Amino acid sequence: MGNYAEEINKRRTFAIISHPDAGKTTLTEKFLLYGGAINLAGSVKGKATARHAVSDWMEIEKERGISVTSSVLQFEYDGFCINILDTPGHQDFSEDTYRTLMAADSAVMVIDASKGVEAQTRKLFKVCVMRHIPIFTFINKMDRDANDTFELLDEIEKELGIATCPINWPIGSGKGFKGVYERASRSVITYADTEKGTREGHATRIPIGEDAMLTEQIGEEYKVQLLDEIELLDGASAEYDLEQIQAGELTPVFFGSALTNFGVEIFLRHFLKMTTTPLPRKADSGLIDPVEHDFSAFVFKIQANMNKAHRDRVAFMRICSGRFDSGAEVKHVQSGKVMRLSQPQQILADERKILSEAYAGDIIGVFDPGIFAIGDTICMPKEQFIYEGIPTFAPEHFARVRQVDTMKRKQFVKGITQIAQEGAIQIFQEFNTGMEEIIVGVVGVLQFDVLKYRLENEYNVEIRLENLPYEHIRWIENKEIDLDKLTGTSDMKKIKDLKGNPLLLFVNQWSVGMTQERNEGLVLAEFGRN
Ligand code: G4P
Repeated sequence: MGNYAEEINKRRTFAIISHPDAGKTTLTEKFLLYGGAINLAGSVKGKATARHAVSDWMEIEKERGISVTSSVLQFEYDGFCINILDTPGHQDFSEDTYRTLMAADSAVMVIDASKGVEAQTRKLFKVCVMRHIPIFTFINKMDRDANDTFELLDEIEKELGIATCPINWPIGSGKGFKGVYERASRSVITYADTEKGTREGHATRIPIGEDAMLTEQIGEEYKVQLLDEIELLDGASAEYDLEQIQAGELTPVFFGSALTNFGVEIFLRHFLKMTTTPLPRKADSGLIDPVEHDFSAFVFKIQANMNKAHRDRVAFMRICSGRFDSGAEVKHVQSGKVMRLSQPQQILADERKILSEAYAGDIIGVFDPGIFAIGDTICMPKEQFIYEGIPTFAPEHFARVRQVDTMKRKQFVKGITQIAQEGAIQIFQEFNTGMEEIIVGVVGVLQFDVLKYRLENEYNVEIRLENLPYEHIRWIENKEIDLDKLTGTSDMKKIKDLKGNPLLLFVNQWSVGMTQERNEGLVLAEFGRN
């Protein structure tokens, strides 16, 4: 064990998830207000910054003013060293968005109080649940008219299947937003509109027993309503249980307004108390403890051509244990190669900062000479173990790829295979034919454009994409099943991945269910295991 336990134990690494426009960027920016930002990797996407997109590693990003890639930022607050993994927040999000969650120890879910649970939150949430990581809910935009609080909680419980435990409770909303009641301290923290934009938008804290003062601050009507609601809440809501929270079975819920900076610091303080230090990670040799074990990491994202002038690839890895020392030799387990990680860096807004050290919980990007693949393990040369792989997430959009100039077959196959290896897209073949028919699957439709653009610009190959109607893909878990005998629905399509694993495509969820019903013993999976 090294003497760096303290460094590791002060780290908190979380992903922030939401449906576009719920306020993820605004909340992240407010977090940074409280801490001294020490490293900004990639960019915090924002409408304001989008115009001069910071991580414009691809023209597409610039043209559309959006950031295709996930980013990481690090800041210190109250003795903690916090790593936030931002997940691209557009409808065009990609598999990288999901993979980012594989590198986090907990997730903060931002919900718009007037919209409730939205599509993208639901998808990302599924991945968190699969990992059993703690999920914290921040219900945002309380300064706008919000849905009924009990209904919002009900929706989270029903839609996402997780119990909720409000840590604070809103008093009014929109023009009538008065503040929140903090359950643990049994006091009301008032919202003062005039203070918005300052570091702390909330000032007065009134114990619930101070009747006269409460009436003065929030008004008789809100006070009566609040007291009623507290009674209801105390009787009906799940009890605070840290163990359940850390197992991802109970989500603590907070209310606030990121824009006006209300409830953000309250959230941060509670969150840091409840979330975990870097978690041990599963390897084939057992659980690897972040503190007890020497340096190890796994690759969760590969990004090509971040710098046009250099045509390079960067592998992003999550440090799972120990201390990373840029001078030391490490082993890339999958290739057996011992090496120094080249140009370890944190990708800054528009420059890269070379790091000399980092600790379990941190994310680093290293120059990839073309040997790393998603899910790979890096450890000390004397060691040998492999971290549990990152699942392949189900694409939701499919297209047949047609090459315009069939003479360039070789470049085309090389290009599309390399892009698939980076994990930006998934490629499949017709079940009974070879590479002549390629079907590409993506999580977000923007990836189709990325594919087209990259094939043209990097491999000089022009393609045409013909959209297919499928939206659901299932991996077949029991390999012994005879696919020729499978009774599917008329819309079902059999395909295989590059390794020859069979998969099924469906147009709708109903067909998935029907096929499952018609074939006893068939085990269909929503995630592919590598
Ligand atoms: P996202 O990253 O989740 O996509 O959301 P983002 O923070 O970009 O916020 C989306 C919009 O919602 C922005 O407004 C932002 O100012 C607003 N917003 C965020 N938090 C709050 C809040 O607590 N209250 C209110 N009322 N609005 C909030 P926009 O007009 O789309 O962009 P901008 O021009 O203001 O940046």
